[in-house]
Amino acid sequence: MDILYDCWLAYGKDDAMKWTERYLSRLCVLCIGRVISSAVKELETAYRRLAGKIPERISKPFSGGCFILRINGDFDAGGYGISVSDDNITVEGGDENGVLYGVFRFLILASGGYSPEKLNITEKPCYPLRMADQWDNADGTVERGYSGASIFYEKDRPVSDMTRLTDYARLLSSVGINAICINNVNVHKTETHFITEKFLPDIAKIADIFADHGIKLYLSVNFAAPMEIDGLPTADPLNERVISWWKCTAEKIYSYIPDFGGFLVKADSENRPGPHTYGRDHAEGANMLADALKPYGGKVIWRCFVYNCHVDWRDRSTDRAKAAYDNFKPLDGKFADNVFLQIKNGPMDFQIREPVSPLFGAMPNTNCICEFQITQEYTGQQIDLCYLVPMWKECLDFDTYSDGEGSFVSKKILGAAAVSNVGANRCLTGNPLAGANLYGYGRLVFDPSLSAKQIAEEWVRAALTADEETAEVICTMLLSSREIYESYTSPLGVGWMVTPHYHYGVDVDGYEYSPWGTYHYSDRNGMGADRTRATGTGYTAQYASHNEEMYEDPSTCPEELLLFFHHLPYTYMLKSGKTLIQHIYDSHFDGAEKAEGLLMQWRSLKGKLPEEIYSEAEIRFEKQLLNSRQWRDVINTYFFRKSGIDDIHSRKIYR
Ligand code: GCU
Repeated sequence: MDILYDCWLAYGKDDAMKWTERYLSRLCVLCIGRVISSAVKELETAYRRLAGKIPERISKPFSGGCFILRINGDFDAGGYGISVSDDNITVEGGDENGVLYGVFRFLILASGGYSPEKLNITEKPCYPLRMADQWDNADGTVERGYSGASIFYEKDRPVSDMTRLTDYARLLSSVGINAICINNVNVHKTETHFITEKFLPDIAKIADIFADHGIKLYLSVNFAAPMEIDGLPTADPLNERVISWWKCTAEKIYSYIPDFGGFLVKADSENRPGPHTYGRDHAEGANMLADALKPYGGKVIWRCFVYNCHVDWRDRSTDRAKAAYDNFKPLDGKFADNVFLQIKNGPMDFQIREPVSPLFGAMPNTNCICEFQITQEYTGQQIDLCYLVPMWKECLDFDTYSDGEGSFVSKKILGAAAVSNVGANRCLTGNPLAGANLYGYGRLVFDPSLSAKQIAEEWVRAALTADEETAEVICTMLLSSREIYESYTSPLGVGWMVTPHYHYGVDVDGYEYSPWGTYHYSDRNGMGADRTRATGTGYTAQYASHNEEMYEDPSTCPEELLLFFHHLPYTYMLKSGKTLIQHIYDSHFDGAEKAEGLLMQWRSLKGKLPEEIYSEAEIRFEKQLLNSRQWRDVINTYFFRKSGIDDIHSRKIYR
C-alpha cells in the first residue's frame, strides 16, 4: 500500500474495514468476462492488503461468510446492488460494468469506515456517457497539467511501462467513468499520426487496459489529418477523397481496437483546422466523421468551444461569451445521431464563476454533453485548494427554462466529459487534496442528485482518514474552498485578471488589450462587461426569457455574477449595503485571511493524517497563502488607484 499513490483505493489504511475480512476470504464468482476479472482482482488486492493472502475461490455460496459476484438482468447497464448479510456480501450488476462499480463502491465505503448497514445500496448511472479527457501530448507534456509529466506518453511514444495506466483505469472505473480520450484536443504533429499503423498497435494496448475496466478509448483527431498524413490537397468534409480517407481510417482503427469509442474534435477553434476553411459548417464536418464511424458503433464528440481568438479589443460589438451559441444554435437538428456536442459549463473558459452556458437547453434536437475541467487551470492549479463539485453541481442544477420551469441542465444532457488532472507525480493528482475533484466528478456524473458534501465525505474517508472528526475538518475546508478562492481572485464573476497564458497568479490587465476577448473594462468610474440586450452586447438574449430578464437587470442578477453581465460604478450599492468597491476590498481582505485559516486548519491536523499526505498538502497551503496575499494587494491597489475611493476600514492598501 502506498497512501499517496493509491489515492482513494488504499484499502486497509486503518482498521476501518477489518470486519470485511471474513467475507473477502472466500470469493464466489458467478459470472465471467474481462471486466469481471478486474473486479475479482480488486477484491483480491483488498484482501491481500488486509490479510496478507489471496482469497479462496469457491464455486457455491457459503453461509459462513463469502463475497458473491453475479450479473442480474433486473439491474440497468452499469447499475448494481450491494447487499450485506451475516452470511455473505453480494454484489449484483446489470452487466459487467455494474459488477465492477458495485465492487469498488463497496470497497471505497468500507475502507472509509461506513458501517455494514450503510452498504446496502442500489445505484444506476444517470447518463450513458461519462468521460475523462486527457490533454496529454506525445512528447510527455500535459497541457494545463499540474501533477507532473504525462502518464501516457514519453518521447513521442506511448509509455512502455503501462502499470500506472492500469492504476489510473482502476481509479476511473471506481467512480463509474466509462470513456476516455487519451490525447490533447490540440492535436499536434505526432498525435495526428495516432490513427495510423505507426501508433495503432500501441494505442490498442492502452485501449485494452481501459477495456478491462469497462472504459472505451477515444482519440482526439486533427481535422486536417488527410492532408497532413497522406498529402491530400484538401480536408473538405464534402470531398469524395476526404470522405473515403476517413472511412478507410475508421476501418483500420477498428481492426486494431474493435471496441474503439470514437473521435473527439476541436475544430475551427484557437487556430485548429476545421470545416470553416472550406465554407462548410460544423454539422457538415462532424457528420462526415460520424458517417465513417457509424458502421462500427463509434461516436463523434464535437466541441462547442469555438470563438474568435483574434478580436480587436477596440471592437465592442464582439462578445466571446456569445460565440458557442451563435455558432451552434442555428445547427440544431442537423447533427447525425452519433454526434455529441460537448459544451463547456460556462460561455467563457472554466473560470471560477461564470453563468451556465446558454447553449444548454437551446439544442433540443441534438445530443449534448457538458464539459467540465477537473484540472485547475484557472482555479488554483492544484496549489490552491478548490473543490469544484459544488460549481459543477450548480451547473447541472441550473434551470434553463428552455421548456418551462424545471428544464434543468441535468435533464438536457446525455453525459459529461471532464479534463483530467492526473500526471506522473507519486500522487497522481499532484496535490493529494485535488483527488477530491477527480473522484467527485465521477460520482456526480454517475448520480447528479448527490450532494457536494456527501461526495466530499466519501472521498475524505476513503482517501485520507476514516476518523470522523478529522474527516469533518477536511470536508469543511473543501466545501468552503471555492468561495475562498473566488473571494481573493477576480470579483463578482468578471473573471480572468490572471497572468496571461500561464493562468496562475494575478495580472489585472494581462488580457485587457489582448485579442482573446476577455475584458473587464475597468475605468475610473466603474467596471464589468455590459452584456445586456438594452445597452450591451446582447448576450443575455441567448437565455430563455425568464433567465434573460433575471440577468438583464442588475437588481435581479445574482450578485456573484454582477460584473459578468453589467458595467457598474464603484459606488453601486449591493444588497449587503456595501458599495461595489467596498465589496472588492472586503472580499479580498477576507479571502486572504481565510487562505491563512486553511493553512492553520491543516496544521491542526498534523499527526492525524499520513505524513506524506500531510506534507504534500502543507507546502501547497503555504503557497496558496502567498498567492492570496498577492491577489489581495494587487487587486486592492489597482482598484484604489482607478477609483480613488478609500477603504472605509482604512486597511493597508498600497497606493
Ligand atoms: C483553454 C486552455 C487551452 C485549451 C482550451 C480548450 O483555453 O487554456 O489550453 O486548449 O481551453 O479547451 O480547447
